This record gives sequence, structure tokens and C-alpha cells, in this order.
Amino acid sequence: MIEVNFRIRDGKDFVELSGGFPEDATVLDALETLRARAEGAAPAARVPHYRHSCHHGSCGTCGAVVNGLPSLMCLSRLSDLAAPRPREPGGPAVEPSHGPSGELVVTLEPLTRGSLVAGIAARPTSALEGIPEEYSYLRPSEDAGRASLPADPTRDGEKLPALDGAVSPPLSGRVRFEACIECGLCSAACPVTAPFLGPAALAAVNRHREKAPESAESMLALAAGADGAPACERHLHCSRVCPQAVYPGKHIQLLRKALAGRAQ
Ligand code: SF4
Ligand code: FES
Repeated sequence: MIEVNFRIRDGKDFVELSGGFPEDATVLDALETLRARAEGAAPAARVPHYRHSCHHGSCGTCGAVVNGLPSLMCLSRLSDLAAPRPREPGGPAVEPSHGPSGELVVTLEPLTRGSLVAGIAARPTSALEGIPEEYSYLRPSEDAGRASLPADPTRDGEKLPALDGAVSPPLSGRVRFEACIECGLCSAACPVTAPFLGPAALAAVNRHREKAPESAESMLALAAGADGAPACERHLHCSRVCPQAVYPGKHIQLLRKALAGRAQ
């Protein structure tokens, strides 16, 4: 077991909650345990709001700043937080913090650049919001695709289970691109303060440029804006924190190369 004192941001204050948890528990596991333990307790003893869904790093909803680093709480093991964590390759590590009795102290804060809901629950709205609506590749498409599926689908002559239309509510907003789970960790980690489309958006722009040559010019025009690739200061924190190995910094670099090639 590992003794942990959680300091969880709730507005201007921190709520402090302690407990013992299995070594391989994640921060999200621990919060779920604390929440169950506090059921029926006074509001001050309850866990502040947090977001989650899948518990395995695929939905992107549980992002938070964990001991100073934007992280997915469902992938952050307590045992890992008890050891120094590299902030960036070759850079200074984030040292673990311990309380007076030797307990591990874990500080949780909401992701920056998101829309704060409450507690540490924040929606990473800024990850893709800089991309204009007219770029159709990031518009809803799955629902239209599903609507056009035959009512009685078959594959290789074999009948497939019927689709339940009720489980597919209309999508609104933009669809996902490749491995990105739109968690917003890259935007939260990026220290650029000037107007900036952001790492996730520029990674999407570059992938579309590569995959759809007919869109390359419009993608490069988007990337060439003052808030596009030129705004990137090459800190590369985005690639460091991305839980899906999207490497947004690499995509921004590829956009720069393509822009430089176009200018020659
Ligand atoms: S590029 Fe990575 S860090 Fe950024 S939103 Fe997508 S999955 Fe998250
Ligand atoms: S709960 Fe889905 S990514 Fe963490």
C-alpha cells in the first residue's frame, strides 16, 4: 500500500484528502476510491469534480495537471509519482513531494487553456478550436456514414448484427483525427502565450496535408498564419506530454519544412 495525501484544486482553495492505496493504483483509481469512501460525507470532505470515462487512456477526458505536469489521471500510477519524473528528456526531473509522515503528496489542478467546469474538471476546448469550420475534414462525418449503412448489413455474404440507431446520437463539433484523443494535454503544456492554433490543431493540419494532396495548399495557408507554425517556439513540451505519441512538435516541424520549400 502507498499512503497518499491528495491536494485537489477546488476554485481558489485546495481540498486535502488522504488514504492508503495499492501501489499500482492510478490517480483516477484513487479518486474513485476516495469518492466512494466520502459518500454521504459533508461537502468539505468530498472529492472535487473531475472528469473521466474509459479508465484506459483512450477517451481523453481525465486530463489534469498532476504534480505540475499535464497528464491523464488514468495512466498516472501512484508508484510512478513516488519517483522523480523527467519533465523533458535531459531536463530537470519533477521530484516527488512527501508530507511530514512520509506520505506521498499529489497535487491535482485543472488543465490550463481548457474550459473549467468545476474542481479539476476542465474541457480541453482549445485543442482544436483554432481550425475554421470550413475545413471539412474536421467536420462531423461518422453520423452521415452510419446513416447510409444498409439496414441489414452483410460482410462476405454473412449477415452482421443489426445496428442499433439509438446508440448513435448525432455528432456535433469536429471528428477525431488519427491517434489524437483530444485530451488537451499538449495545449496545457505549451508555454506559448501569443495567439496560437496549438499543437493538436497543427498536427491535424499536417496530417491532412500529407493525406489529401488536393488540400495541401489550403492547409499550408492555414499553417502559415501568424498564429500557425510561426508561433511555435519549439519548446516541444507538447510531444513530451502527449499520451498517444502523436508528436505534435514533429508535425509542426514538417509544416515548417513544407512552408520553407514552398517559399523557394
Ligand atoms: S496531440 Fe496528443 S496531447 Fe494533444 S490533444 Fe492529441 S492526444 Fe492529447
Ligand atoms: S478516463 Fe479516458 S483517458 Fe483517462
